Amino acid sequence: MRLREQVAIVTGAGRGIGRAVALAFAREGAAVALAARTASELELVAAQIRSRVGRALAVPTDVTQETSVAALVDRVLAELGKVDILVTAAGVATFGPLVDTKTEDWDRMVAVNLRGVFLACRAVLPPMMRQRRGTIINIASVAAKRPIPGSGAYAAGKHAVLGLTLVLAEEMRPHGIRVGALSPGAVDTPLWDAVPNAPERSRMLRPEDVAEAALLMASLSPGASLEDLTLLPRGGIL
Ligand SMILES: NC(=O)c1ccc[n+]([C@@H]2O[C@H](COP(=O)([O-])OP(=O)(O)OC[C@H]3O[C@@H](n4cnc5c(N)ncnc54)[C@H](OP(=O)(O)O)[C@@H]3O)[C@@H](O)[C@H]2O)c1
Repeated sequence: MRLREQVAIVTGAGRGIGRAVALAFAREGAAVALAARTASELELVAAQIRSRVGRALAVPTDVTQETSVAALVDRVLAELGKVDILVTAAGVATFGPLVDTKTEDWDRMVAVNLRGVFLACRAVLPPMMRQRRGTIINIASVAAKRPIPGSGAYAAGKHAVLGLTLVLAEEMRPHGIRVGALSPGAVDTPLWDAVPNAPERSRMLRPEDVAEAALLMASLSPGASLEDLTLLPRGGIL
């Protein structure tokens, strides 16, 4: 049990990577607050955790809304007592050449993938700073590391998340809080369901692979901090 007595908030926990992270963290003993907009999906994940005698709190949340994120953290502090770990896995993606990118798609990706990460990080910092410890893991993407044609708007948000994460890591060092970005290549999740001409799903990472990497980042000894991790399918960028 690598996360015994820990309390984690996982955004995007209803499906895909966030769900896998929540299940892995709960298996390792953490009480997990599950945050996303679709309550029915959160309840399914919570039920799965509880059926294995884990602790889960489903908190319907829109990460783009400041009041919603504040309410999430308030509820976790009230019901679970503290916040040790934040994983920001809420995200959306639309792909296509920049010349064809719709302004509303750009705005939606920046709102969820960047503003949502900022709001969630900022909301957990005061309680983490008070307890002088904590771990924040932002799920970025290989699109923040390599130029992938068709990912312009998505990559812009992910580059920004990486920048935010690296600066926050420096700011939080004196406070005993470690902050890192986890940048996966393609992962077989529902995110790809609506993407035409998606890479072959069987060659992608599994959500459980990403959860293992997040678990490593969260469970290192307090003296170590994994701050910028890229995880690729064996076949590389698909
Ligand atoms: N799949 C990949 O290949 C891949 C690769 C690298 C990085 N990533 C990143 O990993 C993260 C998770 O991706 P995924 O593949 O797991 O996606 P997914 O299967 O589509 O799941 C996305 C999750 O985010 C939640 N979400 C979306 N908008 C939200 C909002 N406004 N407020 C709160 N929750 C919201 C969704 O729930 P609701 O819709 O119910 O809110 C869902 O639980 C994203 O940041 C993505 O960019 C994915």
